[in-house]
Amino acid sequence: MSEKATITIDGKSYEFPIITGTENEKGIDIKNLRNASGGITTLDPGFKNTGSCESAITYLDGEQGILRYRGYAIEDLADKANFLEVAYLLIFGELPTKAQLSKFDQDIKEESHVDEDMKKILDGFPKSAHPMGVLSSLTSALIAFNPSSVDVDSEEAMYEAIVTIMAKFPVLAAWTMRKRKSLPLDYGDNSLGYVENLHKMMFSKPNKTYESNKIVNDALDKLLILHADHEQNCSTSTVRMVGSSHAGLFASISAGISALWGPLHGGANQAVIEMLEAIKTDGGDTAKYIDKAKDKEDSFRLMGFGHRVYKNFDPRAKIIKKSADEVLGDLGIEDPVLDIAKGLAQVALKDDYFVQRKLYPNVDFYSGIIYRALGIPTEMFTVMFALGRLPGWIAQWREMRLRKEPIGRPRQIYIGETHREFKSVSER
Ligand code: CMC
Repeated sequence: MSEKATITIDGKSYEFPIITGTENEKGIDIKNLRNASGGITTLDPGFKNTGSCESAITYLDGEQGILRYRGYAIEDLADKANFLEVAYLLIFGELPTKAQLSKFDQDIKEESHVDEDMKKILDGFPKSAHPMGVLSSLTSALIAFNPSSVDVDSEEAMYEAIVTIMAKFPVLAAWTMRKRKSLPLDYGDNSLGYVENLHKMMFSKPNKTYESNKIVNDALDKLLILHADHEQNCSTSTVRMVGSSHAGLFASISAGISALWGPLHGGANQAVIEMLEAIKTDGGDTAKYIDKAKDKEDSFRLMGFGHRVYKNFDPRAKIIKKSADEVLGDLGIEDPVLDIAKGLAQVALKDDYFVQRKLYPNVDFYSGIIYRALGIPTEMFTVMFALGRLPGWIAQWREMRLRKEPIGRPRQIYIGETHREFKSVSER
């Protein structure tokens, strides 16, 4: 017999089916609540208890620290796959064959030019503009140069849109950095792999032959994989929400970039390094900052700590911490900020405040240290996150459209004034 949940309101009971996922996750299906109950709704700010969709892309178990893309463990993917393979897996559901991967790579390369007029748009931004704002605007501007809507019933049109954004996004991301650094814009080199080409587009100098570095490329590849999807987080929910109005893929992704920018989400990676730098400048007193984070009168939060879903550890943080040690070692870099980070984590992990609230280092706690070691400027950290998250956003957008999900339109509980008589300005 299928399980049911009963809700009793004012003595009247209503039954709702329980939906069970493939990992035995259970959810009460309240689709018919308003109809059945004559207008009663639910209230769940921040969606702490509310599933917005059924999805077959990413599974995570916050209690056990499990993260899987399409069933594959993040540890295996970070160790054995490359970013493009993972992107294909997320978007299309299966690991690509050699031929599929090669076609995907080639098709992306074919699209890796950006209309020259896009440079005029970039030119209009002041150098001081934050790269995330510029990237969001440029991604939106792509719509003007490419078909604005995708025929989601056509597999071909969908594929074309996916390949187009996968190809042009790294170019735009790299350009946001080159603009800040007054470097001429670079189109990269299609003979290089996806991640290597991204690195070239960011760092090549006009008067120097670009030399690729395997340690750097491998580290970047891994970081992008670790960020590639994370089910219904803030930016992904934004992409799905915007896309649910049948806005195009690029418009939806542009909105996702804006959502990711915030310091409670992807912007945390920049905030972490700024915080660690501030602690260093202040004499390295980690205890003082732990106290500040615990003080409810102080708005300071330990950036890179805590997660809405992970309550034991963030598996991505575990991989990144190990990787940070390796990359810094391989590159022969000693960064005092890494020691401060480790010191901070050590103290926090034993402190009652953090233990009781299950606050652990998240993916952003160590990622900035690697980005720094790779020579990536701090204000580009969240752009790196966006580059990684791109296939996740695409996969979630595609799934939402293929499942023909309805437009996202939450309800509310109104707490404003009840009806008032209007008074003209002379009577007020
Ligand atoms: N430092 C100090 N206290 C914290 C922190 C923190 N980083 N995070 C949560 N708390 C406290 C919070 O004050 C609250 O305490 P109390 O119960 O006494 O009121 C309790 O822990 C629960 O916090 P919450 O804000 O209700 O939890 P949430 O699930 O709404 O927020 C979070 C999750 C990630 C936004 C939050 O932990 C945070 O602000 N962390 C710092 C920013 C950060 O590192 N963000 C990156 C997240 S991972 C990558 C990504 O998603 O992009």
